[in-house]
Amino acid sequence: MSASWSLVSLLFFACCALLAVLAVGSPESSNLDLPVVSFDEGYAHLFGEDNLVLHGDGKSVHLSLDERTGSGFVSQDLYLHGFFSASIKLPADYTAGVVVAFYMSNGDIFEKTHDEIDFEFLGNIRGKDWRVQTNVYGNGSVGIGREERYNLWFDPSDDFHQYSILWTNALIVFYVDNVPIREVKRTKAMGGDFPSKPMTLYATIWDASNWATNGGKYRVNYKYAPYIVQFSDLVLHGCAVDPIEHSSACDAVLPSGSIPYAITHEQKVHMENFRKRHMTYSYCYDRARYKVPPPECVLNAKEAEHLRSSDPVTFGQGKRRFVKRRHRRASATSM
Ligand SMILES: *[C@@H]1O[C@H](CO)[C@@H](O)[C@H](O)[C@H]1NC(C)=O
Repeated sequence: MSASWSLVSLLFFACCALLAVLAVGSPESSNLDLPVVSFDEGYAHLFGEDNLVLHGDGKSVHLSLDERTGSGFVSQDLYLHGFFSASIKLPADYTAGVVVAFYMSNGDIFEKTHDEIDFEFLGNIRGKDWRVQTNVYGNGSVGIGREERYNLWFDPSDDFHQYSILWTNALIVFYVDNVPIREVKRTKAMGGDFPSKPMTLYATIWDASNWATNGGKYRVNYKYAPYIVQFSDLVLHGCAVDPIEHSSACDAVLPSGSIPYAITHEQKVHMENFRKRHMTYSYCYDRARYKVPPPECVLNAKEAEHLRSSDPVTFGQGKRRFVKRRHRRASATSM
């Protein structure tokens, strides 16, 4: 083999190796490589007649909202802890009043003491992007809202992006495309407010005209219907349990290492960068609502400064007009 030939092949291999690295991504942003389930393996139709449609090999599904009804699906199993994820593409253009939710709840079993972990996507008028809201309830703690809201660094109606919930005994992490955007560490003082009972996964689209966009100023306009949200890459990597006799068996189903039990230092840096740029609301900094922030709040000077500069009335020393905050979860029957 001539010297020039070996140089060419060396370059060739170097190039392939580089491409392989690019395809896999950097280790900290890579997927956990958890199994993806088909719709029929993990989920079932919840409501909305024929507004749920399976695609391709049944690994993708879409939900739609039209003048007749919204729609939704629900996991077949209840889970105690795990990693739950979906790639979601939201409807484009005018989506004011439309809400898409991807969440865990046990409200149908524990009416007064339910737990909940939410991703909610709030539609917007044309030209303005969707906003994302996260929330956590434990043991029926609906009197304490723990909402946060963010905008994203991409248009979530352009393409699929991955939204994930990690829930362990000690921590809840919300991720967007594997970037953690919120971490809730369980503290003793939170008591029962940290979700602790098995929950099912839900995905829904519904008409929230009366609160979703500027407190109800912009309503759903059915001229643009149907509003279609697409889901794929469904991951339900949790400990499936019987709601009554849950517990110890989960250590075998979720052995240490199969899901993260903490976020890495590198991820934490990404999270902090995200929050100081994209967070638009956090209950922890809302002094009009909580004179003393709830016990799990870890205040961060950069987050505080960002919120104050974008909304001095809510997060600064400014006088506040009283704005009634509403949070309502439409139940399957009210849609
Ligand atoms: C959950 O709520 C119920 C009823 O409000 C209360 O009796 C119970 O002590 C709470 N459990 C925890 C763990 O806080």
